[in-house]
Amino acid sequence: MKNVVGQTPRGADFYPRDAVINKIYRRLDAGNHIFMSAPRRAGKTAIMRFMEDNPRKGYAFIYISVEDVNDMEEYFEILSEEIVESDAVSKLVKASKSAKSIFSRFADRVKKVKVMNIEVETTAKEVPLFSDEFEKLMKNLDTSDFKIVMLIDEFPIALERIEKDLGVKEATEFLHVNRTIRQRAKRGIQFVYTGSIGLPNIARQLNSTATINDLSVIEVPALNPTQAKEFATKLLKNYKVKIKVEVINYMLKRLKWLMPFFIQLIVQMIIDEYELEQKPVTKELVDLVIEKASNHRNNIYFENYYSRLSKSLAKDEAELAKKILSEIAKKDVLPLSRFAEDEEALALLDILEFDGYINSHDDTYTFNSPILQLWWRKHAN
Ligand SMILES: Nc1ncnc2c1ncn2[C@@H]1O[C@H](COP(=O)(O)OP(=O)(O)OP(=O)(O)O)[C@@H](O)[C@H]1O
Ligand SMILES: [Mg+2]
Repeated sequence: MKNVVGQTPRGADFYPRDAVINKIYRRLDAGNHIFMSAPRRAGKTAIMRFMEDNPRKGYAFIYISVEDVNDMEEYFEILSEEIVESDAVSKLVKASKSAKSIFSRFADRVKKVKVMNIEVETTAKEVPLFSDEFEKLMKNLDTSDFKIVMLIDEFPIALERIEKDLGVKEATEFLHVNRTIRQRAKRGIQFVYTGSIGLPNIARQLNSTATINDLSVIEVPALNPTQAKEFATKLLKNYKVKIKVEVINYMLKRLKWLMPFFIQLIVQMIIDEYELEQKPVTKELVDLVIEKASNHRNNIYFENYYSRLSKSLAKDEAELAKKILSEIAKKDVLPLSRFAEDEEALALLDILEFDGYINSHDDTYTFNSPILQLWWRKHAN
């Protein structure tokens, strides 16, 4: 198991997330479309890639990151092309007589729409739409022996870009069309959406919460202590680091929030230190590394927690959210009663909790990750 920090861990580098994955399959089996909800770097992309690489029988997964999509047509063009080109899909379709003809018709149509779109640039003919073809496919396909699951990563970013470039109306329309397509669908194609910024937040700002409330929400929690210990031990062993079990336990206690990313980050820094000194890792070294982790050198990992607030919240909300977070970062804990009278702050605290910045246990708000908290104190001003 290699120590992968920042990139998507695949194959043997992926630490199993059976509980989440089983839950996703259960929801898909029941015919639901899904929104995978989790804070940044919780391992959403890693889970999707794992499912694509290791599908259960009767499933074909297509992973698509739609981060660079500019408009609705481009979105459905990419989805259509990916379906047509997917080996996993064609394997399943080959075995099914009825689906075979539906798919070959779809592939022909997609090709035609492409050609016609090019022609349209020189003539003034009406444009045929990829979204219409996609909707037809969803409507016609009715299979009980296999499922095609579109894993759509960075969906909220596509939505946000459409809103910025084309306006609120287009963005709302994008959400509506996606919902309509899901509703008209028979069995055969299902969606899992996720992304590094919160979809519910953006939908709320567009007054379009109703367009996503058909999605079944699945959360990606942190690892439990047993898993985290197993994961960290495997990584450290692989790099032949001398470290006692009690020091590993201490490291996990200091990390507090056992998301795989934070474990990988600290383990990486411990490996680096160990290579310099070649001495067994001590608790003091763990403390040092945790302090170092919040340095500016790791801005690439944390900066986004700060900047995304301005992206996914209105301007005055973002300002208030930053102020609240700075106060919690500075004071370590903040009593829940601190904002009891302030409805705007309470709504923001809900969002910040939902987005994984903070939690509200034992009558207080605290940061989930002490590393992020330290970083916030030093750099988020
Ligand atoms: N199952 C896992 N096994 C090993 N490492 C993992 C796992 N899940 C996440 N990680 C670690 O966390 C990092 C972030 O994972 P990933 O990119 O999948 O998260 P994400 O939720 O998609 O993040 P973002 O919100 O930034 O898109 C990885 O680079 C890796 O270091
Ligand atoms: Mg991701």
